[in-house]
Amino acid sequence: TKSFVRVEDLNEALVGQKVLIRSRVHNVRGKGSSAFLVLRQRTATVQATLFADDETVSKGMVKYASQITRESIVDVGGVICAPLKPIEGCSQSQVELKVDYIRVVSRAVILPFEITDAARSEDEIKAAESRGEKMATVSQDIRLDNRFLDLRTPANQAIFKVQSAVCQLFKELLLNQGFQEIHSPKLIAGASEGGASVFKLEYKGMPACLAQSPQLYKQMAICADMERVFEVGPVFRAEDSYTHRHLCEFMGLDFEMQIYEHYFEVLDVIEKLFEHIFNGLATRFGKELSVISQQYPFEMPVFKPLRLTFPEGIAMLQESGYPDVDPLGDLNTAAERRLGALVKEKYGTDFYVLHRYPAAVRPFYTMPCSDDPQYSNSYDVFIRGEEIISGAQRIHDPDMLTERALACGIEIDTIRSYIDSFRFGAPPHGGAGIGLERVVMLYCGLDNIRKTSLFPRDPKRLTP
Ligand code: 4AD
Repeated sequence: TKSFVRVEDLNEALVGQKVLIRSRVHNVRGKGSSAFLVLRQRTATVQATLFADDETVSKGMVKYASQITRESIVDVGGVICAPLKPIEGCSQSQVELKVDYIRVVSRAVILPFEITDAARSEDEIKAAESRGEKMATVSQDIRLDNRFLDLRTPANQAIFKVQSAVCQLFKELLLNQGFQEIHSPKLIAGASEGGASVFKLEYKGMPACLAQSPQLYKQMAICADMERVFEVGPVFRAEDSYTHRHLCEFMGLDFEMQIYEHYFEVLDVIEKLFEHIFNGLATRFGKELSVISQQYPFEMPVFKPLRLTFPEGIAMLQESGYPDVDPLGDLNTAAERRLGALVKEKYGTDFYVLHRYPAAVRPFYTMPCSDDPQYSNSYDVFIRGEEIISGAQRIHDPDMLTERALACGIEIDTIRSYIDSFRFGAPPHGGAGIGLERVVMLYCGLDNIRKTSLFPRDPKRLTP
């Protein structure tokens, strides 16, 4: 087989060498007997030139190259040269390729939008507007309709490297802490979280659901003596909420563990985990973060672990004059954001835990506080004032669990084996569920969860 080189590896050391590249055509300009192409592989770019000289390059070949459509895939051969001055706008600016061979491998049809238009930074767009110029911008819906193209922009390439990094760092830390990975079923008989957000389907003539979380199964793994488990897998929610932070399918990073004395043991793991994720992103993925910030400017989030009780959070909101907070209700998005801003001002952190939530707003499996059952051994975690994690100590007594499930209107028959799993000796345990897309969105200060989902599923979108 022929050996291809990578665009990102092209540098001055290769001047004079013959190379072969398979890449996209990022841009083409034909000028009489010459043609200039920008070749792109992911985010690396290099200029390629053709000059008709009747020896290696004919006029016909220059014409053929000039007519290649943008985003086509080509094989290009030639010699690496040092340009007279650096090639502006190319990542490999110190070299160019003098082409003697070019072949289209796959031709792109007319694009619905230019990749460069979709990759404009907000600053560029604002600057153009202030000059009274109209700059080509593309709406989010059009970009999502053509997500396979939209994903080619540098910022999107970087966002999904960061997403992959968060999963890697999640696994790294938990494996180090004695957790093991599990894979639980997604086709299940009943709702795992209760409520209305369940996708129902038929399973060989039986009623079934798509798992709303691995909740019941990660707990049964604890009952099966696995002690500490985690899972990375899809979570399905038939959400009615069409918002900046809800998807109908997202990636859940879940873990569950035995505890000995207190749910604070789970909070200790959460804080270690996020210290590892924040540090790992900053130190190992700085390049990707800076590419994202070129299109979507953001400040790096500050990680200083902080735990507040729910009543303390309510008190902070009330003292700040925030209207209508229910001390035994849940916080809405606006209240969460306000509290996030107050916490940032007072404690200087973008990451904090709010624990001891009112029992009435938590799922049926949540352990009530032993000193006051109006509250529960549960917690949410926030980045920049928006929820990324929810978790709790779970009820491990089967009778208490049955009573809570009934009180929450759950059909016991659909979760009978889950409840039974606690009848054969079950240790106290707790855990958490983390929304991957939310972590990336909030770490990078992005405004919409669709930006961090590869092919988002929301109440109005099932394609592509
Ligand atoms: O708050 P949720 O629903 O909690 C659970 O699933 C529990 N079983 C977790 C546990 O271990 N007790 O979901 C957990 C996290 C949320 O904090 C949020 O980050 C994310 O999942 N999430 C969503 N992300 C995108 N779209 C949605 N519709 C989401 N719903 C929850």
